[in-house]
Amino acid sequence: MATINQNYWNLKESYLFSEIASRVLSYQKAHPDAHIIRMGIGDVTLPLPPAVIDAMHKAVEEMGHAETFHGYGPEQGYHFLRQAIGDYYKQKGVCLLPEEIFISDGAKSDLGNILDILGDNSVLVTDPVYPVYVDTNKMSGRSISYAQANQQNHFLPMPDPHLTADIIYLCSPNNPTGAAYSRQQLKEWVDFANQNDSVLLFDAAYEAFVTEDLPRSIYEIEGAKTCAIEFCSFSKTAGFTGTRCGYTVVPLELVRQETSLNKLWLRRQTTKFNGVPYIVQRGAAAVFSPEGQEQVKHNIDYYRHNAQMITDTLDKLGIWYTGGKNSPYIWLKCPHDMDSWTFFDFLLENAHVVGTPGEGFGSCGEGYFRLTAFSSHEMTRTAMDRFYAILRQK
Ligand code: MLT
Repeated sequence: MATINQNYWNLKESYLFSEIASRVLSYQKAHPDAHIIRMGIGDVTLPLPPAVIDAMHKAVEEMGHAETFHGYGPEQGYHFLRQAIGDYYKQKGVCLLPEEIFISDGAKSDLGNILDILGDNSVLVTDPVYPVYVDTNKMSGRSISYAQANQQNHFLPMPDPHLTADIIYLCSPNNPTGAAYSRQQLKEWVDFANQNDSVLLFDAAYEAFVTEDLPRSIYEIEGAKTCAIEFCSFSKTAGFTGTRCGYTVVPLELVRQETSLNKLWLRRQTTKFNGVPYIVQRGAAAVFSPEGQEQVKHNIDYYRHNAQMITDTLDKLGIWYTGGKNSPYIWLKCPHDMDSWTFFDFLLENAHVVGTPGEGFGSCGEGYFRLTAFSSHEMTRTAMDRFYAILRQK
C-alpha cells in the first residue's frame, strides 16, 4: 500500500490565503451586492511596466522564427538576466558573480525548494511569519522554534543564544509586519549564523520598498556570503505576481560539511527545474533598463502613496501600527482588543474590506491585522473612508 507523507497531517487544513479567499467567497455569495475591497493577499494591481511588455512582445516574435527560437534554456537562467541582476546588486555595493544567481519562478517556490539541499536540520523562524517558511518545514518534518516578535522589540527579534538553529529565516522588510532591520541588527544575525554554522535564508522580496537608509540585501552585511542565501522576486517590484519570476543568490563562499551549497543547488535545479520561460526572462531583464527602472519606481511610489493613506487613517484613529514606510504592508493592532479573526469578520461585514488576520501568521500575530498597499488609489481611499467611519463610531 502506498503511504502518504504523514507530515502533511501536521499542517492546517488550508493555506492561509486560500482560507481567506474561501471565507470572502462565501460572504460575497451571501451578499452579492456588497462591494468588497481586497487588501488581504499582497497581490499587485498595476499592470506590467511598458518596458517589460515591449521586451516580452519582442521575445514572443523571436519565438516565432526558427533562427531566433529558444527551446530549453539554462536551468539557472539566461546569462543576460543574471548579468542584469548582478549589475543591480553593484548599485547596492554588492559584488555577485552570475553563477551565484539562479533565476526562479518566484521567491515562494525557491523558499520551499531550497530545503531539498539541506539536511534534517532544526529551524528558527520569527513569529509572526510568512507561512511558507513554516509549512514547507512541517511538510518535511523538521522541528521549528519561534523567535517572538512583538511591540516591545518593534517586531524585530534579535538573536538569542538560547535559541539556536541550523536554518534561520529572516525577511526584511518583513512580511507580514513591514518592520525592517538596520545594518547593525542584521550584522548581529549574520555573526550569530556564522558562529553557529547555521544557514540564514534571507527573504528580500520587499527590498525595493525601502525608503530609509536600511539594508536591501543581506550581502550588504560583512560576513553574509559565508552564511546566507537570499531570495528575491519581481512580483511586488515589477508586477510579476501572475507572470512569475524571481531569483535566488547562493554565494560560492557558502560551504557546509565541506560542500558548496551553490553546487548542490545547481545540481538540484538542473535535475528538477527546466528554467523560467525565455519570454518572461526577457521581460524581467527589461526591469533593469533605464526606462524599466523609472517605470518600476513610479509603480512603487504609487503603492507608497496608498500606504500613506492607510497610515494617515490609523494615525487619525489613534491605532498603533508598524510598517508602511519601507514596506507595502501595514501591521496594526486590532482596535478595541478584538482578536484577529473577529476583526477580520467585523471589517468584512461592516466595511466590506478584506485584510489578513495576524493570527494566521503565528500566535504572536494574535490581536494584530495586516493591510496591503497594493490596491488602487480609489479603492484604498474608499476602504480607508469606510474603515474610519466604522471605527470612529465604535
Ligand atoms: C502575501 O500576501 O503575504 C504575499 O502575497 C505572499 C506571497 O508573495 O506569496
